[in-house]
Amino acid sequence: MQNAGIADMGLNWRYLAFDVAPEQLDLALAGARSMRFVGLNLTVPHKLLALDWVDEVDPAAREWGAVNTIRFEGQTSGGEWVPVGQAEDPTGFESIRSVGFNTDADAILRSIKEDLEMGLKGSKCVLLGAGGAGRVAAMKLASAKVSRLHLINRTLSKSEAVARDIQAKYPDVDIVLDYPRHGDSIDLLLNATSLGLKTSDDLPLDLEAINLRNVDSVYDMIYQPAETALLQAARASGCRTANGLGMLLYQGTAALEIWTGRPAPTDVMREALHAHVYGKPSAH
Ligand SMILES: NC(=O)c1ccc[n+]([C@@H]2O[C@H](COP(=O)([O-])OP(=O)(O)OC[C@H]3O[C@@H](n4cnc5c(N)ncnc54)[C@H](OP(=O)(O)O)[C@@H]3O)[C@@H](O)[C@H]2O)c1
Repeated sequence: MQNAGIADMGLNWRYLAFDVAPEQLDLALAGARSMRFVGLNLTVPHKLLALDWVDEVDPAAREWGAVNTIRFEGQTSGGEWVPVGQAEDPTGFESIRSVGFNTDADAILRSIKEDLEMGLKGSKCVLLGAGGAGRVAAMKLASAKVSRLHLINRTLSKSEAVARDIQAKYPDVDIVLDYPRHGDSIDLLLNATSLGLKTSDDLPLDLEAINLRNVDSVYDMIYQPAETALLQAARASGCRTANGLGMLLYQGTAALEIWTGRPAPTDVMREALHAHVYGKPSAH
């Protein structure tokens, strides 16, 4: 996805994957800085650890408590910080600093809005899961002014903690730590559990407690398999459905924009991602 985007933008860059042991993250970041890397993406568990190792943290990364994108910036002789990827001569800097960003959180909302073609303001949502991704999704749904949010998680203490955080920051959102009442209509049901990654997994929800015919749209953060058992059941019940590939795409396009300062070629990147994950072009 990133290499397709980079090539389309005419940049002589390469996006490479490295396995880094968590206890050597500081060394890896120092090495990348010394080698004048433009930037980095990080995945679990490095996303959380990197908060301690970057020189500056963007407010969104601070708020979500995780850094998934780093941009290296160089200081000019005039004291100005310039992104390495946007500098005419990246070898001429006095010093280099690392700045941590988070592009995951906005990608969730963008994917829900664009892939399900729905607005979230005033909507009623059910969120399954309160792990790393579930917590961020809950906060973002609250920030998008949903009217009611049902938080369901196997470990109740985690959904209670998320509910407390939301109530402190977004007191207007009605938080319910249970399924909706029978017959209540729901605009969006979102799966942020890992149930569905394996075909042998149970469904992530209790179909005795919620009738999918009362749900308008269902989003599953899982994108492999492309259609989880939840999405199959949702489609059979007449719901609009989308999987998490858009989330992965949009966190990537946002990272490329942070490094380049230019709009990313979203369609090119979507095609490359789709071909890589599913082995065939997308239906777009
Ligand atoms: N599309 C994307 O770009 C993208 C990005 C990030 C994550 N994801 C997907 O989102 C999902 C969650 O990721 P995460 O990072 O939040 O993982 P995580 O922090 O490990 O959280 C896992 C969640 O799944 C629940 N869960 C796991 N096994 C369960 C079971 N047997 N029964 C009931 N609940 C169970 C956990 O409940 P407990 O709290 O009770 O353990 C928790 O809510 C994964 O499927 C991941 O692939 C997709």
